[in-house]
Amino acid sequence: MRSAMLEALTLTTESTEPAAYVNTAPVVRASAEWVAYFRHNAANRIPVPWDEGAGASPEELAEIIESLRAWQLGETSDGSRLMRAASRYAVRMNEPGFVDAIQLFIAEEQRHGAELGKYLDLAGVPRKGRDWGDTVFRCFRHLLHQMEVWATTVVMVESHAMLYYAAIRRATSSTVLRKICHQILRDEVPHLRFQCERLAILHRERSRGLLALTMGFHRVLFTGITLAVWVGHRRALRAGGFTFGRFWRSAWTQMGKAWRAMNPRAYHWPVTSRALSALSARAG
Ligand SMILES: [Fe+2]
Ligand SMILES: [Fe+2]
Repeated sequence: MRSAMLEALTLTTESTEPAAYVNTAPVVRASAEWVAYFRHNAANRIPVPWDEGAGASPEELAEIIESLRAWQLGETSDGSRLMRAASRYAVRMNEPGFVDAIQLFIAEEQRHGAELGKYLDLAGVPRKGRDWGDTVFRCFRHLLHQMEVWATTVVMVESHAMLYYAAIRRATSSTVLRKICHQILRDEVPHLRFQCERLAILHRERSRGLLALTMGFHRVLFTGITLAVWVGHRRALRAGGFTFGRFWRSAWTQMGKAWRAMNPRAYHWPVTSRALSALSARAG
């Protein structure tokens, strides 16, 4: 199946800069469309030439490997909490397809973790069992019972992932690792879109004042996450061409795209029976 949506979401990320979103259709996609997209994407992956070996020099690996171990750990969550939150939310919204979409999203994230793990094995580097950044994030995730808080955090982390994997791809000559990064970057663009559309739905009924307050909170949270990512991964980010200034500016640019994509006013919304009755009540 290759719908217009799949065309819109299939991006090339060959350039050294993170890919931009493609917002060709100003409507939020139904869960069934997301399910179709995730299934299509799972069946159309970039081949990774594993038999070429790790293919990175010891000097090159020294710059990125500790960071990669930590990031790999972060990509390996069983997703059970998210599934519980998504199931509750889907019942409340009467949107059973959302659970399937989330399940496929989790499977894609787990593939990222598995492929990075396989690369560490190939390079003869032990996988990490614990990391301070991951522990903080996992503790935080325990608080994430609400879809909105969860999706907000994921958008922020994925915005940094776009910069991070672009940096790793620049920092290495390993064909295997470059292909893995390329695939992850290609996956993350629709992931961001998926979360942003959900946030647009969640923010849709919010008043201007409350929405401004929400965005203020986003900025505080994003500042904290951006600083934490730099502190935890600056060596690898520097190897990939980022100074702190460039990283800071790129992170806010990337998140700016996400903020635009989660703005409910950026979408056309179908006229629901509820809206129609409100209109007719006003007219009456
Ligand atoms: Fe990921
Ligand atoms: Fe992702």
